[in-house]
Amino acid sequence: MKTLIAGAAGQLGRELVRTAPPGMRLVALDRAGLDIADADSVRAALRRERPDVIINAAAYNAVDQAESEPALAFAINRDGPARLAAASAERGARFIHVSTDFVFAGRARRPYRPASPCHPLGVYGASKRAGEIAVLEACPGALVARTAWVFSPFARNFLKAILQRLAAAGEASVVVDQVGSPTAAGDLAEALWRLATTPARGLHHLVNSGQASRFDFAQAIAEEAIRRGLAPPGSRILPVAAASLPPTPARRPAYSVLDASRTTKRLGAPLRPWREALVDTLERMRAGEG
Ligand SMILES: NC(=O)c1ccc[n+]([C@@H]2O[C@H](COP(=O)([O-])OP(=O)(O)OC[C@H]3O[C@@H](n4cnc5c(N)ncnc54)[C@H](OP(=O)(O)O)[C@@H]3O)[C@@H](O)[C@H]2O)c1
Repeated sequence: MKTLIAGAAGQLGRELVRTAPPGMRLVALDRAGLDIADADSVRAALRRERPDVIINAAAYNAVDQAESEPALAFAINRDGPARLAAASAERGARFIHVSTDFVFAGRARRPYRPASPCHPLGVYGASKRAGEIAVLEACPGALVARTAWVFSPFARNFLKAILQRLAAAGEASVVVDQVGSPTAAGDLAEALWRLATTPARGLHHLVNSGQASRFDFAQAIAEEAIRRGLAPPGSRILPVAAASLPPTPARRPAYSVLDASRTTKRLGAPLRPWREALVDTLERMRAGEG
C-alpha cells in the first residue's frame, strides 16, 4: 500500500510520517515537493507516484491573515483539496482530508455534530467549509475529518505559543470564553491511519476527549510544563474575557466543541482525554523533539 501525504512538513504531516503503519510505503511531500494550489504540480506528483491513499495535511491556517488574503486561502483550502479529491476519484484512490471546528459559528450550547449547520465567522472557516463541500462533490467516497485546536512539538501552535510567553514573561493572559476540543496532532494522525483502512466516508469529527476553555488549556500547559522544567517555576496564566482584548481581524467561535461519537463508533473507542495527550507531547518535547 502506498500513501501520499501532502503538506508533510506541517504538524499533522510530521505526525502522519511518525505514526505510519509498519510496511506502509510513504511519499511525504512538503510544499516544495507538491504545491496543492498548483494544478500542474498535483498532476505531476500523482502521475509519478500513483498512490493508493492520499492524505491532505496541507492547509492555509493563518486565521487572521486570511481576512486580507481570501483568494490565497480559497486556492489552498478549497481548490487544492478539490483537485486532490478529483484525482483520487479518477484513480480509485482513497482520499482523506482534514477540516476544522472554525466552520461553526460557536453559538451552540452542546457539542457540534458532523451534520450541524455550518456558519463560518471568517475567511479561513469559509474557505475550509468550501473545501469540505468541493471534496465530497469531487470524491463522494472521501473521508473529511474535522479536528480542532491542534498541538504538537512541531510548527506553530497554541501550546508552543504559551510556552514561549511563559519563558519570556513568566505569565500569559488567556481568554476564558472560547471553549473547544484540544487535540494532539499525533493522536489525530494515528486515528487517521486507522480510519484509512475502514470504509468511513463523509464528514467525521476527530478530536481528543473532553473540552476546555483556552484558559483551562493554557493553565494545564503551565502546570504540566513547570513540572517538567519546560516553563519557569511560578509561571501564571491570567484569565481574561475576549471582549477585553483588542479585536483581531478574524472572529473566532466562542464554543466549538466537536461531538466525535460517529468516529468513535468506527474506531471502537474515543481518543484519549486531551490532558493525557498534552502530557505525552510535553514529555516528547522534554526529550528533545520539536
Ligand atoms: N492547527 C490547528 O489548530 C487546526 C485546527 C483545526 C483544524 N486544523 C486542520 O488540520 C490540518 C492540519 O493542520 P496543521 O496544524 O498540521 O497545519 P500546519 O502545521 O500549518 O501545516 C500545514 C502545512 O501545509 C503546508 N501548505 C500550505 N500551503 C500549501 C500548498 N499550497 N501546497 C502544499 N502544502 C501547503 C504548509 O507549508 P508552509 O509552512 O510552507 O506554508 C504547512 O507545512 C489542516 O487541514 C488544518 O486546517 C488545524
